[in-house]
Amino acid sequence: METKILIIGASGQIGTELTLKLRKIYGKKNVVAADIRNGNYEVMESGPFEILDALKKKEIIRVVKKHKINHIYLMAAMLSAIAEKKPKKAWSLNMNSLFNVLEIGKAKLVDKIFWPSSIAVFGPDSPKKNAPQDTIMNPTTVYGISKVAGENWCNYYNVKYGVDVRTVRYPGIISYKTNPGGGTTDYAVEIFHAAKKYKAYKSFLKEDAVLPMMYMEDAIDATINVMQHDKFEKYTPYNIAAISFDPAEIAKEIKGFIPEFEISYKPDNRQKIAESWPQTIDDSQARKDWNWKHNYELKDLVKTMLEGLHFTY
Ligand code: SER
Repeated sequence: METKILIIGASGQIGTELTLKLRKIYGKKNVVAADIRNGNYEVMESGPFEILDALKKKEIIRVVKKHKINHIYLMAAMLSAIAEKKPKKAWSLNMNSLFNVLEIGKAKLVDKIFWPSSIAVFGPDSPKKNAPQDTIMNPTTVYGISKVAGENWCNYYNVKYGVDVRTVRYPGIISYKTNPGGGTTDYAVEIFHAAKKYKAYKSFLKEDAVLPMMYMEDAIDATINVMQHDKFEKYTPYNIAAISFDPAEIAKEIKGFIPEFEISYKPDNRQKIAESWPQTIDDSQARKDWNWKHNYELKDLVKTMLEGLHFTY
């Protein structure tokens, strides 16, 4: 059977690049991009696009039937920092969009679902270094609570109704093509724009706030690879990791390209969120089960970001 894909949240940071990559692999007409708002020119012009609210199940079903969809990627979510400001709205979006898609899986309207989780599932009680996949969680953010609950619901629908749902826990994702919105790791994208534009950046995280990060291309590969894997014995929310660094370290790398670049620090409420998360992640299970590997080290990432942004400024 031909793979027909629906991406909900296709105008967002990851959804945008995921859509373009999936269209390359599966063919333009087989990948339907959907979002509550219009996407960028490339997403809108390179294949089918539907305006779709992830909270409206009937609408999702209509789009699934119209395009004979069999795989859904649910990329719509409210990230950590903004979710702290709008807890109920974040809970409602992050959970009810998932329920909608899981119900569609239960009704056998589609046969595979991708739902992303995050390093935010971990909390202050989790190991700071090499956080294992299965460990004490106790997240202290609204976003983290919604991700742990979501993982449990995915497992429930898998065990009880046989829904095939796949999950990776993203670290902070960095790209020059699209911007994140409302996350704690956003500084690691902002810093490149600021370096290009002003040769200076004021970081909202402390200089030693180490967090797990990943270049977008690696994140997209992980997403597609976990979906392409034949069959998993059971639902597993996979840790995936690439690199970890703090603001001081990335600033030093940027200085290698832009010697005048200066970083200063004015930590805000996001620092507390960062402190609640692990600094490094143990992703050995993903590496073993489906050959996950990252390609971009810190040096590659910094070079690619600065070169990529070259044309923007
Ligand atoms: N990048 C996300 C955030 O900062 C983590 O999943 O909220």
